[in-house]
Amino acid sequence: MIDLRSDTLTRPTEEMRLAMARAEVGDDVYGEDPTVARLEEQVAGLFGHEAALFMPTGSMANVLAVRSLVAPGQEVLCESRAHIARAELGAHAAYSGITMRTWIDPRGQVDLPVIRSLFAPDMGPFFVPTAAIAVENTHNFAGGAVLPIEDLRDLREFATGAGARIHMDGARIWNAHVATGVPLAEYGAIADVLAVCLSKGLGAPVGSLMVGSADAIAEARVWRKRMGGGMRQVGILAAGGLHALEHHLERLADDHAHARLLAEACGVDPESVDTNIVVVDRPDATDFVAAARDAGVLVATVGPSAVRLVTHLDVTRGDAEKAAAVFARLV
Ligand SMILES: Cc1ncc(COP(=O)(O)O)c(C=O)c1O
Repeated sequence: MIDLRSDTLTRPTEEMRLAMARAEVGDDVYGEDPTVARLEEQVAGLFGHEAALFMPTGSMANVLAVRSLVAPGQEVLCESRAHIARAELGAHAAYSGITMRTWIDPRGQVDLPVIRSLFAPDMGPFFVPTAAIAVENTHNFAGGAVLPIEDLRDLREFATGAGARIHMDGARIWNAHVATGVPLAEYGAIADVLAVCLSKGLGAPVGSLMVGSADAIAEARVWRKRMGGGMRQVGILAAGGLHALEHHLERLADDHAHARLLAEACGVDPESVDTNIVVVDRPDATDFVAAARDAGVLVATVGPSAVRLVTHLDVTRGDAEKAAAVFARLV
């Protein structure tokens, strides 16, 4: 089977497993795991921020990052299909007492005029005040679309003027960086806090980080423990992340090329594919998924008439070519 359902499906390589097995570890709740400390320092540095905190999941990193900017009873603005709005099971409301209002953009982009119109200043006991704006780069449900750095800079300027702060869900920020050549620190400069994942395109089995100021990370460390996310000899996992950053970052360009190959086979303009995700409009989405499975390719629906294909570390050029031949036949 060629598995294109998600880039979270990768299995650690032999080299990654070796790096994990050999990791120097300590009790990270005591702050004594040197491998975790190295990963946190490295990732904070990549984004030009003071500190970072290792977490089990991107969802937890998003929850703690957003709550560092938005108090209970305040709101965060985001795009309507943002992961924080759609796929975290209401965590920001359930844990943090935060409400959301959304703008709609088919490619998940920053729509500054609409964001301006949504933004609500603190007017006392009348309206919910907007504390933060969240962006997702790349945007998962919008087909791995990159948010252009110019739009993000304009958003930063608006947010600073308006007194709002910015969260960046950078689960796949690595893909945006490789696709555009924009340095990670430039993305980092846009955001007050970020959540970044090691367990998607980078191919680590577990792990995400929240990135931000030393104060925000110190507070998030308390909340991580409060939520049951204090982990002990977790350098074993951090070592997988360090290995992934060293060996699996630049190769994301291969995933992007494979995604364009698959797009073309499915009748999607390859120029519209920014990174490693292709969304194909198929009124017969469920039948399409079943037919692809019968032909040896696993894909997933992301709506009644949308099929998603995701390339990753475990999809070789040969796999991509075989899958493209299957799709060409099916369409
Ligand atoms: C954009 C985005 N943010 C956050 C997450 C959450 O990551 P996790 O599955 O590790 O909780 C995902 C997961 O797919 C995602 O696509």
